[in-house]
Amino acid sequence: MQTLSELYAQISGCHACADLARARNHVVPGEGSDHAQIVFIGEAPGYHEDQQGRPFVGQAGQFLELLLSSIKLKRSDVYICNVIKCRPPNNRDPMPTEIQACEKWLNRQLEIISPRMIVTLGRYSLAKFFPGESISKIHGKEKRRDSVIYYPMYHPAAALHQQSLRKIIEADMLNIPDILAREQGAGEDGAKPQQLSLF
Ligand code: URA
Repeated sequence: MQTLSELYAQISGCHACADLARARNHVVPGEGSDHAQIVFIGEAPGYHEDQQGRPFVGQAGQFLELLLSSIKLKRSDVYICNVIKCRPPNNRDPMPTEIQACEKWLNRQLEIISPRMIVTLGRYSLAKFFPGESISKIHGKEKRRDSVIYYPMYHPAAALHQQSLRKIIEADMLNIPDILAREQGAGEDGAKPQQLSLF
């Protein structure tokens, strides 16, 4: 089975989107453990991510770290990546052709990690796993498919622009440990749900 490091080497050589490949300083494949139980998927690298080659290291990333600490997790406990691995110039929205070209990398990451929970952050990762759905209707509501729990959340950057969303994002994050604990209980033939030891 391929490792994430081996996959990163492949992603780093990707030139499928000529404009993005020409403009990038770094490819930003993702960060975290091959065995993470939770994967957070954002939209695309911004300026700071492109400079450092790491996802969510700007302001939105600081808020994401705060959210993680509210459920006693650190970045290294989870896996963090984006739908698009290269920064769109001037932080424009990713184009459908770019999302399509990059999809194989995200799919491969998820195959390698095989997480129990996939948390979508914002509209682009929402669109991949919940096509046609609206974030205002389904945020904070988990959906189980096969053995994976999909959990839509607003993008952390949304809270930076709209104070009213901050409390919603915080509350949605706080639900994650209970969802995982319930899931563990449900898998034990009706056994009482237990507090899940995540790591
Ligand atoms: N926003 C994202 O969606 N991803 C990042 O990596 C940073 C900001």
